[in-house]
Amino acid sequence: MPMVIFHKDGQTHRDEVQERTNLVVRAGIRKFPFPHLRYSCGMGKCGACACRVIAGGEHLPDPNWKEKRQLGDRLAQGYRLACQLWVSHDIELAQDSESQTEQPGAERSGAAA
Ligand code: FES
Repeated sequence: MPMVIFHKDGQTHRDEVQERTNLVVRAGIRKFPFPHLRYSCGMGKCGACACRVIAGGEHLPDPNWKEKRQLGDRLAQGYRLACQLWVSHDIELAQDSESQTEQPGAERSGAAA
């Protein structure tokens, strides 16, 4: 089973998940990475679930159009939308703390409150 390592607010959380797991769906039913993973819409519209892929990104499919629209230049920095990913291999992710997500001048449309 894939091992997910998730960094947030200086802490590291890890657990195994089933293959083809969506981490936002899991968090929605209060399973790891709940309650650490921030998300909102679950549909690629808000950008709240953006995470930086630290390891394992080579197993992920290319970003879809929702990720391209939401993340823009952040894609090149390794960010992906967790709600758009189905995890089938080990992966290590980091999600910025709330204060780090505010990027001056960054385009933010429909961001979660
Ligand atoms: S939860 Fe809204 S874009 Fe992923």
